[in-house]
Amino acid sequence: MVENPAPRVVVITGASRGIGRLLAQKLGAEGAHVVVNYKGNADLAAESLADVTAAGGGGVVAQADIETPDGIDALFAVVDEHYDHVDAFVANAAAAAFKPVSELKLHHLDRSYAMNARSFVLGAQAAAKRMPAAGGRIVYISSYGSLRAFATYAALGAAKAMAEQYMKFMAVEFGPRGITVNAVNGGLIDTDSLDYFYNKVPGMAPIASVLEKLPLQRPGTADDMADAAQFLLGEKAGYITGQVLVVDGGLTIIAPPFWSDTTGALHDAVFPPAH
Ligand SMILES: NC(=O)c1ccc[n+]([C@@H]2O[C@H](COP(=O)([O-])OP(=O)(O)OC[C@H]3O[C@@H](n4cnc5c(N)ncnc54)[C@H](OP(=O)(O)O)[C@@H]3O)[C@@H](O)[C@H]2O)c1
Repeated sequence: MVENPAPRVVVITGASRGIGRLLAQKLGAEGAHVVVNYKGNADLAAESLADVTAAGGGGVVAQADIETPDGIDALFAVVDEHYDHVDAFVANAAAAAFKPVSELKLHHLDRSYAMNARSFVLGAQAAAKRMPAAGGRIVYISSYGSLRAFATYAALGAAKAMAEQYMKFMAVEFGPRGITVNAVNGGLIDTDSLDYFYNKVPGMAPIASVLEKLPLQRPGTADDMADAAQFLLGEKAGYITGQVLVVDGGLTIIAPPFWSDTTGALHDAVFPPAH
């Protein structure tokens, strides 16, 4: 049964934690109804929806494993139960194995594609079909592994690169229907996944050795990412499509020699000694 055809309806995959959850809350504050997708943790999803409601929005939770086509169908079945349209789709959930390329097995390759690229295409197809004649918004949450190569991130980075390219094809194809399609590409963002990558992947370099090389000298926050996505989903981004908005504190513009590795007066020119 269609309960309320009026609100702005945004479907966010993986909205029970991290960046997706914060984005849901920010959109709730704009009065949006958010379909809070999650895979396993129903309590966190319920908390996330409660945040959205407390912020002034509404919505529903939708348990669905988006790695599978059946999961995408299940997600949009929940959407159809409650709403007669979708205004925006955010492909946010991600997962992959962190291993050297030489150790990637067939299932790592297949699952990484299914989870991080295929789910975006299937989800965007389903969402676009439900968007009103006035148009809509699609945003893919990517990461710097789509642009740069670094330890253990190949399976995820390559899938993100594929999704970013799909994003551009969709922008061209859906543009005549008033649908914009963009990506937010994050650097090191302080969430559960960053903690896992630096503290649980055996042998990973210490995060401090990476942060000191960043122009902004700190990890990004989930807020930094959610703000960028909120902008692309909003009215003020109406003429932006097919773009990747990089939110990385300068990570992807640097190259060796790094300022943090310089010494003496040269080092002091950028990092003045503490008084
Ligand atoms: N953290 C970073 O450093 C960083 C940097 C750049 C870009 N990003 C990107 O930002 C996005 C969000 O990252 P994040 O760190 O906030 O969260 P995340 O760990 O990637 O995702 C957590 C959310 O995804 C859900 N999820 C996981 N597998 C799912 C599946 N198969 N089907 C449906 N939902 C699933 C989780 O639900 P359950 O808990 O219920 O399983 C949870 O809601 C990702 O695309 C990530 O690649 C992150």
